[in-house]
Amino acid sequence: MALTASEIKQINRLLLSWYKVSARPLKIRERSDPYAVLVAEVMSQQTQISRVDVFAERFLSRFPTLRSLARAETADVLQAWRGLGYNRRALLLHRAAVASHALGGIPTDVDSLEALPGVGPYTARAVAAIAGDGREIPVDVNIARVVQRLVGGRRLTPKPLQAVANGFGAHLKPGEAGRWAQAAMDLAGSTCLSVRPDCSSCPLRSVCRSKGRVRATRKKRSAASTVKFETTQRWLRGRLLDELRDAGVAGVRVRGARGGHDAAAVRSAIRRLEGEGLAERIDSGAYRLPRRSSRKVRR
Ligand code: ADE
Repeated sequence: MALTASEIKQINRLLLSWYKVSARPLKIRERSDPYAVLVAEVMSQQTQISRVDVFAERFLSRFPTLRSLARAETADVLQAWRGLGYNRRALLLHRAAVASHALGGIPTDVDSLEALPGVGPYTARAVAAIAGDGREIPVDVNIARVVQRLVGGRRLTPKPLQAVANGFGAHLKPGEAGRWAQAAMDLAGSTCLSVRPDCSSCPLRSVCRSKGRVRATRKKRSAASTVKFETTQRWLRGRLLDELRDAGVAGVRVRGARGGHDAAAVRSAIRRLEGEGLAERIDSGAYRLPRRSSRKVRR
């Protein structure tokens, strides 16, 4: 049975009160401008929020405004992304900055946000709710877990899940959905854990339909965790990007094997990076980070 309006309102009240006293003290939460929020949310797509907090500060001191990022060389954006991994996110964030700067600023409505490069349903709703008046709740795996447990634990597919999440948003005032979402993220990381949730200390224990009913299942070791990192494409791409970062404008000739990858695999990886706009081949046959003077990527 769906939650009643009165249950939803009570959950909202309890969650927002808990957040007032228990919010994680993150630097990024001191900024509510759409640009800073977009940077942090793009970074958080595959990175823990504690690391994002450090990297976002550093990135925002290098590119303090939307304009500064929109006008930057791709090479400099990728330099500033060093250490974060999944470098395509940097490229897409840069393209999103170029596109939104041309529009006059980063939009704060979900549809316009979703039209930006690299901005999917979660990121669009997170920016709209945290930096604007959006009332749709952004649903990542953590919020999905909290929401599903609140309504009784059944696994929902993305559309029904978003609809249930938005049911909470419909009873929030403009500006509250961002706090609601961040509260749910904090709860998911501290109490409503995927394995062995701590229901006894949960601020929503009086209203949660799954309280005490979550089985303490052990996480299966994923196949990924048994694969040596150096044999993965992710490692190779990160390694090549770091070589390009170290090489500077003159570039570097990419030859030979790396980690668990033979020379042919390395060649094909650098070509793929070039095709994606993450690397640029220059006359000498060397590769470097892409610079405006010879940019081929459509932006
Ligand atoms: N994960 C992604 N965005 C977050 C935020 N704003 N706070 C906490 N965790 C997050």
